Amino acid sequence: MPKIPPHVRGASITGWGTALGHETVTNDDLARTMDTNDQWIRERTGIHRRHIGGSTAELSVVSGKAALAMSGVDPSRIDALVLATTTPDRTVPATSATVQHLLGLSCGAFDVNAACSGFVYALVNAHGLIAMGAERVLVIGTDTLARITDWDDRNTAVLFADGSGAAVLEQTNGPGQLLGWDLDADGSAEDILYCDLGGTIKMDGKEVFRRAVRIMVDSAHKSMAHASVAASDISLIVPHQANIRIISAACERLDIPMDRAAIVIDETGNTSSASIPLALFDAADKGRLAPGDLVLLVGFGAGMTAASAVIEWGAS
Ligand code: ACO
Repeated sequence: MPKIPPHVRGASITGWGTALGHETVTNDDLARTMDTNDQWIRERTGIHRRHIGGSTAELSVVSGKAALAMSGVDPSRIDALVLATTTPDRTVPATSATVQHLLGLSCGAFDVNAACSGFVYALVNAHGLIAMGAERVLVIGTDTLARITDWDDRNTAVLFADGSGAAVLEQTNGPGQLLGWDLDADGSAEDILYCDLGGTIKMDGKEVFRRAVRIMVDSAHKSMAHASVAASDISLIVPHQANIRIISAACERLDIPMDRAAIVIDETGNTSSASIPLALFDAADKGRLAPGDLVLLVGFGAGMTAASAVIEWGAS
């Protein structure tokens, strides 16, 4: 994995926004329609409720507008939109084109599909655009997994939900830099987690669980090595919110205590590309981040993909 070259044009996050699906669905709501119960879902996944409803473009516009407003950047000054999603509204055009129009942007826009690793893939790509001369990039991670979930399959229906998180990334060589990153994929594992065109998600949950912990830990170690930081330097780990047991197993192997983890899975379920920004910005909104803190983002997803990044928090 390449090191970030010296003297590269850097960037930091200057505004963010989030959105959740329109309707709240509790575990008890699910237990009314399938053979499951609140205790099993809480104990085996950490999920208490989730939010479903809305299209990928709709949720992206809500989070994107909030991020633009917070950063104070006029939509006309955004140089590129990168939308991470595994649930585009149409096959063609890319949902990012719809979002670009609805947000009043006048710039290039493209989708990135790396499943639940998508937001970190998009963030690293956005840094690449800024290194090549862009000044401001809007990065959004949105998924509407409810539309590709089999609501009669208790193995998957209890897990997935809808959400969105957006960040405005602005060029600066001041505080808030990306210090290290890693993007991985292993397409030989595609059959353990997939969704055919027009179909619903099929998953070998146990195998995904087993591999997830390993690939998250591997990827996190690579990012930390490239950033020349140790686990003890990390103020906050922001893991993909798939299962609280996966998060705690990964944190244990990384030697990062759980009280340094950002957790929203109880409230959001697994929102795929949205899960890392939802957890990161929840922590920021709650005042858990101070300028100079080192943040480790780490995701895994269908592919199987994995992605991680170490950023220095810049916003105050
Ligand atoms: N309610 C009640 N019982 C259930 C449910 C449910 N919703 N689902 C399964 N069970 C039962 C099973 O039938 C089984 O019963 P049995 O012992 O009588 O056969 C028992 O509970 C245990 O089932 P397991 O599958 O062994 O449960 P496990 O502890 O592995 O948890 C889970 C299942 C939650 C799916 C877990 O394996 C997991 O989280 N895997 C990773 C999934 C994941 O992260 N996917 C997202 C990837 S990201 C992306 O790209 C979208």
